[in-house]
Amino acid sequence: MESIRRIDEAAIYIRERSNGFKPVAGIVLGSGLGGLAETIENKIVIPYAEIPNFARSTAVGHKGNLILGVLGGKNVIAMQGRFHYYEGYGMDIVTMPVRVMKRLGISYLFVSNAAGGINPYFKVGDLMIIRDHINLMPNPLIGKNIDEFGPRFPDMTRPYDPKLINLAEELADKLSIKLKKGVYLAGTGPTYETPAEYGFFGRAGADAVGMSTVPEVIVARHASIPVFGMSVITNEAHSFSEDYVNDGDDVVKAANAASEKMSKLFKAMIENL
Ligand code: HPA
Repeated sequence: MESIRRIDEAAIYIRERSNGFKPVAGIVLGSGLGGLAETIENKIVIPYAEIPNFARSTAVGHKGNLILGVLGGKNVIAMQGRFHYYEGYGMDIVTMPVRVMKRLGISYLFVSNAAGGINPYFKVGDLMIIRDHINLMPNPLIGKNIDEFGPRFPDMTRPYDPKLINLAEELADKLSIKLKKGVYLAGTGPTYETPAEYGFFGRAGADAVGMSTVPEVIVARHASIPVFGMSVITNEAHSFSEDYVNDGDDVVKAANAASEKMSKLFKAMIENL
């Protein structure tokens, strides 16, 4: 089946299950960051398994629900768990939910992830506004262009919306939430990086590294959706003590611990859209 038809099938199903719910913002919740979904009011929960053409979420710290409801007084649609390229899904599957959200009418996309802090000033638990990215994954727009969403050669000059970044900085100040800002680099995973790779990425201009987010951002920008991105720093990948190891469970724990701070900021931003 043509991918546009698969996308529309999912969108129609979700619209029917939710009595024509119209979301203003889409939210993608990364590893250990699903907690925000609990704060959504009047929610309708749809497991991915029930949505036509959706994949299952198999990654640790990812629940696999679509949650529709109200956050900060606005209708939102949140992904509690995302699909990763390292799970073996094609990029069309990884990014399909963003296109489905576009079909449902979102005007903004909020994305989040757990990431390794390459910048030497970054500590576990820091929140980083993603101001730009470096894509080292296959581009999700490779293949026939879907003209209904956007052009063959999309601009990527401002992948993360400057107005949303300003809004985040203003609100964080009011809420006494400290923010870092930097460049997110996406690799395929599933291995964490070697010390030499972390060093290489840092010298290439990356402040944080992860295994997600950029495919969704590219597809969102293709469809002209303004994006706000946030990384939660879950490991300090810049000074390797003798017993340093990366571990998926520790990453999820660190993300969980910072999740409330990020949820507060996302809610305040959505309130002020
Ligand atoms: N590398 C890649 N992905 C990650 C990391 C990391 O150090 N931490 C959390 N996700």
